[in-house]
Formats: sequence, structure tokens, C-alpha cells
Amino acid sequence: MPVHEIRHPLIRHKLGLMRKAELSTKNFREMSQEIASLLTYEASKDLPLEHDTIEGWCGPVDVEKIAGKKVTVVPILRAGIGMLEGVLNLIPGAKVSAVGIARNEETLEAQPYLERLVGQLEQRLALIVDPMLATGGSMVATIDLLKKAGCRNVRALVLVAAPEGIAAVEEHHPDVHIYTASIDSHLDANGYIVPGLGDAGDRIFGTR
Ligand code: PRP
Ligand code: URA
Repeated sequence: MPVHEIRHPLIRHKLGLMRKAELSTKNFREMSQEIASLLTYEASKDLPLEHDTIEGWCGPVDVEKIAGKKVTVVPILRAGIGMLEGVLNLIPGAKVSAVGIARNEETLEAQPYLERLVGQLEQRLALIVDPMLATGGSMVATIDLLKKAGCRNVRALVLVAAPEGIAAVEEHHPDVHIYTASIDSHLDANGYIVPGLGDAGDRIFGTR
């Protein structure tokens, strides 16, 4: 099954702290980025390498480097911005493709409002970042538009995933692997993840 719940002690600890309702915006933000880095480490474990020869201190040395076109990180605005820096800390050369999707809080439908994708997507791995995978509508819409633009290699990094969102991604895009810090219990009547983190965008931007 292409869903990876990364049960690393550092992730478990940081996520536990993030679940506290009274955590400051600063701490919530910092931990989102830190967990994003840890998820990036896992999601990049099988990136292809190629050989290179460089001039070392004692002469030529065979080394390895990541092969192919640079990765693109795809933050789903707005809350995905809260994980972007965490990915870029590990993959500083990555290109950023911004996608704006707002979830209609009445109908829970995903409404795309912005698309700024980098070029040559057919040659790049896309790492979508969004703290919350709830109904999956926003993630499925983002994968739809990336594939429409030619991207063939997509992975999703989310802090918390609901079983409903995982099922939606698996149904529409079974090739997309999901990396998450936690598979939570369920969605409540308003489409919020339980126990979840509350409104992640509000907590990252301090708008609650
Ligand atoms: C949140 C979250 C996801 C989406 C998840 O964003 O960051 O993008 O909801 O819900 P879904 O899986 O049911 O689509 P929101 O639309 O609240 O916007 P924001 O990032 O601007 O806060
Ligand atoms: N969006 C959020 O920010 N949190 C949820 O639990 C669901 C959607």
C-alpha cells in the first residue's frame, strides 16, 4: 500500500507537542518544518544516483550525486508553506511550484485558485506538501493538475492523514505514495481530522 506512516521517535515526539491546543504559533511553525524535513528524508530514500569523478585533496575521487532534473516541491497554499522550508533544508536546489487550493468549508469541495508550476515537470519528482490530508479533495485536485502538466512522479508529504483522505488518493491516484507522521482516526462532521491538529493554516499563520 503506498502510504508510509513514519513512526520515528523524533516525529512522534514533535507531533505530540503539536497536538497541544495552546502551542504558540512560533512553536507550531517550527515543528511543522522540522517534521517536514524528517518526512523528506524518508521520501527521498530511493532517489536515483549517478557516478561522478571530482578532484579531491589527494587526486580524482569517484563520488555519487543525485541524478536527473531537480525535484520540485509543491506547497498547497496556504498551509503547505508551513512545510516548505523543511523540505528545502534538505533539498536546497529544489524548484518550487505553488498551487493554491481552498477547501469550501460548507461543501468540503476543493477549489483551485492558483497554479504556478515550474517547467519540465515530466522529468521531475514532485513532492507535494500540505499539513492536512482530510477528505483528500485538495490533494487529489493538486495531483490532477500536476499530471495534466506532464508530471509522472508524484509523492505527497502530510503531517496528519485521515483514512478517508488516504482512500481518496488511493482511488484516484494509486501510483502516488503518501508519507505521513500519523494516520489519525477519522473526520468529524465538519470534515476536520480527529484528533488532528485543528485548522493547520490558521495555526501556522496565526490567523485563529
Ligand atoms: C486545509 C489543508 C488542506 C485541506 C485539507 O487547507 O491545509 O489543504 O484543508 O482538506 P481536504 O483534504 O478535505 O481537501 P484550507 O483549505 O483550510 O486552506 P488554507 O491552507 O488556506 O488554510
Ligand atoms: N484542514 C485543516 O486545517 N484541518 C483539518 O483537520 C482538516 C482540514
